[in-house]
Amino acid sequence: MAAPSTIRWEQDDTGVVTLTLDDPNQSANTMNAAFAASLAATADRLEAERDGVRGVIVTSAKKTFFAGGDLNDLLAVRPEQARELFDRGMAIKRDLRRIETLGRPVVAAINGAALGGGLEIALACHHRIALDAKGSKIGLPEATLGLLPGGGGVVRTVRLLGITDALLNVLLQGQQYRPRAAREKGLVHEVVDTPEEMLAAARAFIDAHPESVQPWDVKGYRIPGGTPAHPKFAANLPAFPANLAKQLGGAPYPAQRNILAAAVEGAQVDFETAQAIESRYFTELATGQTAKNMIQAFFFDLQAVNSGRSRPRGPEPRKVEKVAVLGAGMMGAGIAYACARAGIEVVLKDVSAEAAEKGKAYSAGLLDKALAKGRTTPEKRDALLARITPTADPADLAGCDAVIEAVFEDTALKHKVFQEIQDVVAPDALLCSNTSTIPITTLAEGVERQADFIGLHFFSPVDKMPLVEIIRGERTGDEAVARAFDLVRQINKTPIVVRDSRGFFTSRVIGQFINEGVAMVAEGIEPASVEQAAAQAGYPAKVLSLMDELTLTLPRKIRREARQAVEAAGGTWEPHPADAVIDRMVEEFGRTGRSGGAGFYDYVDGRRAGLWPGLREHFTREGARIPFEDMKERMLFSEALDSIRCLQEGVLTSVADANIGSVLGIGFPGWTGGVLQYVNGYPGGLPGFVARARELQARYGDRFAPPELLLEKAEKGETFTDAPAAA
Ligand code: NAI
Repeated sequence: MAAPSTIRWEQDDTGVVTLTLDDPNQSANTMNAAFAASLAATADRLEAERDGVRGVIVTSAKKTFFAGGDLNDLLAVRPEQARELFDRGMAIKRDLRRIETLGRPVVAAINGAALGGGLEIALACHHRIALDAKGSKIGLPEATLGLLPGGGGVVRTVRLLGITDALLNVLLQGQQYRPRAAREKGLVHEVVDTPEEMLAAARAFIDAHPESVQPWDVKGYRIPGGTPAHPKFAANLPAFPANLAKQLGGAPYPAQRNILAAAVEGAQVDFETAQAIESRYFTELATGQTAKNMIQAFFFDLQAVNSGRSRPRGPEPRKVEKVAVLGAGMMGAGIAYACARAGIEVVLKDVSAEAAEKGKAYSAGLLDKALAKGRTTPEKRDALLARITPTADPADLAGCDAVIEAVFEDTALKHKVFQEIQDVVAPDALLCSNTSTIPITTLAEGVERQADFIGLHFFSPVDKMPLVEIIRGERTGDEAVARAFDLVRQINKTPIVVRDSRGFFTSRVIGQFINEGVAMVAEGIEPASVEQAAAQAGYPAKVLSLMDELTLTLPRKIRREARQAVEAAGGTWEPHPADAVIDRMVEEFGRTGRSGGAGFYDYVDGRRAGLWPGLREHFTREGARIPFEDMKERMLFSEALDSIRCLQEGVLTSVADANIGSVLGIGFPGWTGGVLQYVNGYPGGLPGFVARARELQARYGDRFAPPELLLEKAEKGETFTDAPAAA
């Protein structure tokens, strides 16, 4: 039996055909097999009935116009299916092309989001009208999933905008634009405010342009800005791969390379050949591991995390109306801004009115910048600032239904500030601490309602960093976890939920990365190579420069406390090879990091000025070399292995939380799809990962020993995946 059509055909008595995209089996339209069949049938019918057709309007019955490729399909596709995938893609492109060259005006009436395949369908239309609806976004975000637009998106944007604009504004970073911004970038022609206007505009276009052709189908058409054969373009072209390489730091992001190649090669040949080139590069990406990693993390895992997989089921959703932020320093000021931006009233408290005012001024600074860039209006700016009340008086916290503490990292001080306010705020207020290192269970001992006490770990700078780590202490109740989760979603951030542990999940795991980098310096390896290895592994921040940002005094403090805890529990403390280098840097050379003016790097006027030459003199040994691959993988494995230990110990309860938390919170390379997906996708799967861990263990020490949970899963042929969430 034929699959039901996903494209509805309606023809009025003036000869205008409306094609409504409406997949009866799904909530959104995707480029699945049913769509491909419907598209072919539609193209056949249009050609057969061409004489009676005056024009075509393409629109959708769903909330979004068209959602793009079917990611479940893409996740499942195997390398040996490459040919089939290529043929399937080419068939869809040929059918779109048949409609585009029918000799009748075709208008896209874009009623909602048109991302990826959605925009590709619209680009095959002669005229694009976007409705400025809630959630309407337009763009080709394939690059953010390790793919390229394989439905003609590269070919057409290059012809429409020119190679440079297509690459920089649309393809390489996968930007998503609101309708008006999309018009400015040249992706759509018109923006309207109502569906009625949209359809009227579509008809008006058909009336005025009875014989539409695409600009690139007009004889003599030249791609804006020239093609690589053009001398001016040729002069600029060599800079592209260099800039790209710089941007990617040499990391394995194949999508950008393939996009660049498809755009440049495709610009030099005819349309049909360009389509085949595009499909060839698409197929290579879609059958490779990186795209699978990125689809898993940035689509499925992100959705699972944000939709509340780790939120306790029972408690009713609640919204925070008024929040107390204690401490208006770097973090407090950022947290106040994030809350006020989400419409929450904020009372920002510090020891003096001046300090609190200064914290509020931080928001004013951010808003002024946004205003200058046209990203906000004076009214919105003023309204946001009016929601922040700076104060030094605890009495002003009356009625706050949530508290977020961000004073200095000191247990006694944190206890004291909670004592001061716990009887002033609402009697059931949620009590959160933004501590980065102190166990939540320890902090909770300073308050009366321990079940309402929880860790809410933000990342710096708060306005840019999307993640918040929620830490459940031993006595934290389900209600508090649910409320913290809802608060994080209310301020439009992504929450992961972990259990109390020294350094929780994120700080603990990033500590492994830093220690591993410093351990290589301890072994006498050239520090510049260590930095290079981090960049080429895909880390956004190089390891020694990151250490400088965090300060070298921090790991010493953390180590001291951890050691005390281990010894108090009767255990033996295992030093890390990095310890000696960090101690010498601080004690012998007085180099404590960027804020102290000197660290692994030199600083001139607060700006990084190059690695400290003394490193070579005091630590580097001639001939101390290890394979470059080992350098990269020591960093990646140190974090992956510790994440598996977190899962084994119950610090982590979900794989999605680990993957998303590692990429969004602590800069684990995005191409891996997150710290546990990296293990899943490692060549040879889990057994391959175990074998490599053993090799690293033999060469570099027992910290690379594969944990029990990993061995078990490798043995059973499993991967790290979450059980489906309970309904
Ligand atoms: P900061 O030093 O910039 O700010 C601390 C603020 O607390 C100062 O303005 C200080 O005047 C104020 N304060 C001190 N005693 C107070 C009291 N009794 N009542 C009200 N305010 C008081 O520190 P920062 O960097 O903002 O860190 C704050 C907390 O956030 C710390 O626990 C830190 O570990 C944690 N954290 C820091 C991150 C970072 O990247 N800096 C990241 C995540 C958490």
